[in-house]
Amino acid sequence: MTEVALITGTSSGMGLHAAIELARHGLHVVATMRDVGKADRLRAAASAAGVEVDVRALDVVDHAAAATLVAEIEAELGGIDVLLNNAGRGGVATAEQASMELVRDQLEVNYLAPVNLTKLVLPGMRERGNGRIFTITSVGGAVGQPFADTYCGAKFAVEGFMQSLAPVAEQFGIRVSVIEPAAVASDFVSNAERPDDGGPYSALLDAYIARTAGAFANAQTSESAGTAIAAAVLSDEYRFRWQTSDGATAFVSASLADTDGSRVLGVTRGWIAAG
Ligand SMILES: NC(=O)c1ccc[n+]([C@@H]2O[C@H](COP(=O)([O-])OP(=O)(O)OC[C@H]3O[C@@H](n4cnc5c(N)ncnc54)[C@H](OP(=O)(O)O)[C@@H]3O)[C@@H](O)[C@H]2O)c1
Repeated sequence: MTEVALITGTSSGMGLHAAIELARHGLHVVATMRDVGKADRLRAAASAAGVEVDVRALDVVDHAAAATLVAEIEAELGGIDVLLNNAGRGGVATAEQASMELVRDQLEVNYLAPVNLTKLVLPGMRERGNGRIFTITSVGGAVGQPFADTYCGAKFAVEGFMQSLAPVAEQFGIRVSVIEPAAVASDFVSNAERPDDGGPYSALLDAYIARTAGAFANAQTSESAGTAIAAAVLSDEYRFRWQTSDGATAFVSASLADTDGSRVLGVTRGWIAAG
């Protein structure tokens, strides 16, 4: 039986490449994006790889549209074997600069959308006694980062939701996992919302942006991250937590072993120190 994978946010970046990689491995990939007018890159990559992808529209913050789409796929294709919650967006702002609108937007796309899609696919997976749910979180789902308060808050939240669900879902044959990339070259930085003016935080923000530019100069490629994501999806091994690179694993492990929080603060203080 051909497995069916539903992937969100495939117009660019690692979602696009994970979609191609999973199609290459024989899955029926329902590749969703909020604006199917942006499907050219995905279609060109699919054509270059000699694979087919089933492109459909989904803005993940539209919960009713997500429910309709999941019902349609289940009726047409018999079920969803893999949900890959990939769609996400960054937000650069320290707490005082962050409007509540930004806080809510970050929660909508990075937390509530994966929660909603997970709830929608669970009944079918539970009835079939089989399924895998992956959410692309971030090293920022384990390490709070300066000027990423709203983004990391939402990514921590989704990791908590998924980790809580994992042992219960497992009882019904459903594997729930998160995948944590570090810096990946994609449209992520240009798509992130940011303040026009750093105000009293300008010096700290400038230092942070300079540090981030350095990290992104050595970023993992989207192709490499997409391949790592597909490998996690296709693996027989069950792990709750995956990373897409050794650097991401080192980063996350430093935080998970940091029981008093001093290790992470020791690192992130350095990210906002003036030159
Ligand atoms: N790049 C990094 O350094 C990095 C590191 C760790 C984790 N991540 C996470 O990795 C995932 C993929 O990001 P990426 O790096 O590949 O960035 P990207 O190239 O910006 O891709 C993000 C995708 O999410 C889509 N998206 C945003 N809001 C959406 C919505 N409301 N509905 C549907 N799709 C939506 C974007 O679509 P549009 O084209 O319509 O905007 C785009 O296709 C995200 O969850 C991100 O948080 C990224």
